[in-house]
Amino acid sequence: MVTDSMHAKPVLRILDIGSGTGGNLCGLLLTLDSTGYTGRVEVISVDGNAIALDLQGHIIQAVKNQGLSFSLAYKQIHTVFDSNQALFCKQLRAVMGEGDFDVIMAWKTICEYYKHVKGVTKAGSIPVFSIPLPIV
Ligand SMILES: C[S@@+](CC[C@H](N)C(=O)[O-])C[C@H]1O[C@@H](n2cnc3c(N)ncnc32)[C@H](O)[C@@H]1O
Repeated sequence: MVTDSMHAKPVLRILDIGSGTGGNLCGLLLTLDSTGYTGRVEVISVDGNAIALDLQGHIIQAVKNQGLSFSLAYKQIHTVFDSNQALFCKQLRAVMGEGDFDVIMAWKTICEYYKHVKGVTKAGSIPVFSIPLPIV
């Protein structure tokens, strides 16, 4: 996943949707560190669980304190995505902002969200797939 083309970029932008306590996010940051990436990494971390985000903040700080090969700009957004498609799209656009992302993760979140949506809509569709996500 961490390729030469990523190393060529001075800035890597990462969006983690449903980041929880940050397991996969830490994994990606440590992997980038192990490859010696020296640019700037900008992380937007989104979750609906404030307690998980709080724990994640401490864990990311501990990772940062170990010393990383790159500079890290880290931002948390507390958002509970709604099961209504129009509102979900609006919320997703709001957290994504205007910029593009190099990596978008939603590990073990879509399945939780789908389970929730299936319980409240007849179709049980997954709105996220109807949104064009900018992938570089
Ligand atoms: C199983 S955890 C995965 C955490 C992390 N991505 C990982 O792989 O370690 C799923 C996360 O999705 C979040 N989540 C589920 N439905 C959500 C929703 N509707 N809005 C915001 N977050 C949601 C939960 O709060 C939880 O932290």
